[in-house]
Amino acid sequence: MKTLILAAGLGKRMNSKYPKVIHKILGKPMINWVIDTAKSFGEVGVVLGHKHEMVEKVIPQDVKIFLQNEQLGTAHAVMCGFDFIPENDNLLILYGDVPFISYETLKRLEKEHMESNSDVTILTAILENPAGYGRIVRGKKIEIVEDKDADEKIKKIKEINTGIYIFKGKFLKENIKKIKNDNAQNEYYLTDILKFTENISTVTTDDIDEVTGVNDRIQLSKLEKNMRKRINEKLMREGVRIIDPESVYIDITVKIGKDTIIYPFTFIEGETEIGEDCVIGPMTRIKDSKIGNNVHVIRSEVEKAIIEDNVSVGPFSRLREGTHLKSNVKIGNFVETKKSVIGKNTKAQHLTYLGDATIGENVNIGAGTITCNYDGEKKHPTIIEDGAFIGSNNSLVAPVKIGKNAITGAGSTITEDVPENSLGLGRARQVVIKDWVLRKKGGNQNADSKE
Ligand code: UD1
Ligand code: CA
Repeated sequence: MKTLILAAGLGKRMNSKYPKVIHKILGKPMINWVIDTAKSFGEVGVVLGHKHEMVEKVIPQDVKIFLQNEQLGTAHAVMCGFDFIPENDNLLILYGDVPFISYETLKRLEKEHMESNSDVTILTAILENPAGYGRIVRGKKIEIVEDKDADEKIKKIKEINTGIYIFKGKFLKENIKKIKNDNAQNEYYLTDILKFTENISTVTTDDIDEVTGVNDRIQLSKLEKNMRKRINEKLMREGVRIIDPESVYIDITVKIGKDTIIYPFTFIEGETEIGEDCVIGPMTRIKDSKIGNNVHVIRSEVEKAIIEDNVSVGPFSRLREGTHLKSNVKIGNFVETKKSVIGKNTKAQHLTYLGDATIGENVNIGAGTITCNYDGEKKHPTIIEDGAFIGSNNSLVAPVKIGKNAITGAGSTITEDVPENSLGLGRARQVVIKDWVLRKKGGNQNADSKE
């Protein structure tokens, strides 16, 4: 079975510069949710119109694109993809703005379509508030009447057309051209094709979210909330502990291992993978990162980072792109890392910036250490070898290398390499001026007279 996804509409009510179907839901553009589901059934085509160049950017290479320059109705949209309709196979019609249609429901629709050998099988739903939708009118044969063309009696019908159907390709090809636009909206209604057959079946779904279209940003947020709940519940069934699912935002693309605990107010986004037995949050955001087992990340920001097993991060750490923490590393409060590899058992616990640094194993980075990696034009590397000890409040002026087991004195500005096993000291020697304070006060007349 092939699938044609209609997505030419602008989505005026989104009030957006961008076409509706590229707005993201849980990290994935709306239309990609539909494409990904449709791909399980075979070849996929999309009908694009408004701002199609923007939509094309998110469409996978193997999806065929058809253009509808003017949105003259759903039948007209299908006509634009006429060449895609298979002569000897079925065609599934989906919408780019109905993102959560499930594989299972479509499978059920397909099964009914095959078994009943119908020309068209319609997916319907029962809605408490059916306003706006086409109604399923079950008379001698099934008809669909659009809301705008419906009389009071028909408007009371609660069974609606979800707009999702499977057609026999041959039937569709032969009849779609006959559809006219003599209706309230002067549109070519795909639903009018029912006039040309008696051989119609239906399948009803009771999962309203999966057939709900997104028209505005309010619906978008409601639907996203429902889906977020489903993602969290799926993860919980798979063995992830989520203390308060209402306050945890996890993208569909995220993978999390068993017995990991997610504390409240946590965002886990993009291509993130988290291992088992981790503790994540509260108040943490992790994006596009790979995290091993038994890692703790508390009140921190992590983006495009790799974290190996048994690492502890936070509170208040910021791991930026290109950070790689090897196992047992400890990164503490107000520590920022960028493009840095940090070796096993190394600690940077307080008030530090490590950028473009390669740091060995068992290194201690003292509080307040800064890699001065940027000279205003270029970034330079800092190398700190195994076992080195960087004193507190050091400025390491890159490019610079601290050798194996070397030590730098607290408060040093290190501008030259420190060889292994050596002490690097780079600060002015302290001067003590005895009784300076008393003499300073001596400038005062009163103090003078007392002397
Ligand atoms: C359509 C159905 C209606 C059903 C409803 C479900 C028709 C005539 N009516 O309503 O019975 O209850 O869907 O949501 O089919 N599109 C195009 N090109 C067009 C027109 C629409 O690509 O010329 C796309 C839109 O981008 C959208 C989808 O088709 O994704 C549905 O269009 P929309 O206008 O929302 O649906 P209705 O025609 O109102
Ligand atoms: Ca319409």
